[in-house]
Amino acid sequence: MSNSISLLFFRTAAVLLIVGMIFGIYMSASGNHAAAAAHAHLNLIGFVVMCVYGIFFALNPGRSTGRLPKILWALNTIAAVVMFPSLVLLLNGHPSFEPLVAAASFLALLGAILFAVLLFQPTATA
Ligand code: HEM
Repeated sequence: MSNSISLLFFRTAAVLLIVGMIFGIYMSASGNHAAAAAHAHLNLIGFVVMCVYGIFFALNPGRSTGRLPKILWALNTIAAVVMFPSLVLLLNGHPSFEPLVAAASFLALLGAILFAVLLFQPTATA
């Protein structure tokens, strides 16, 4: 692994993938697919997006230092970890969790914006 921040992204992605797959198996076994969108978002934000960020930092060590990559990790991790249980509850008939889902969505969006900022930073070496 070329740097520690990309390893952190991959480690987090691996843990969240396991949780997402366990939930997928639970949905299959129980026949309750009500929270399929929560499973999908955990796997996509928590695993796929997390891995893409990790791959980027592995390929671009010049942009993997400083505070911004760590803030991106925190934003995307908190987004996935908060969104999953609150979306499960929302989709199982608890509308009071909608503001939490919305807050987590904005954290994920902030992460995407930060990623774009990192990409367009002229000073970093690619
Ligand atoms: C052990 C592995 C997995 C199992 C057992 C599993 C199981 C399921 C089940 C039962 C559904 C609901 C299907 C339906 O209601 O029509 C589902 C939906 C879905 N899964 Fe998985 N899944 C797994 C892994 C993954 C992974 C790795 C991803 C993405 C990286 C993923 C993405 C999705 C998506 C996008 C949906 C559609 C959600 C929706 O219709 O709202 N799944 N999965």
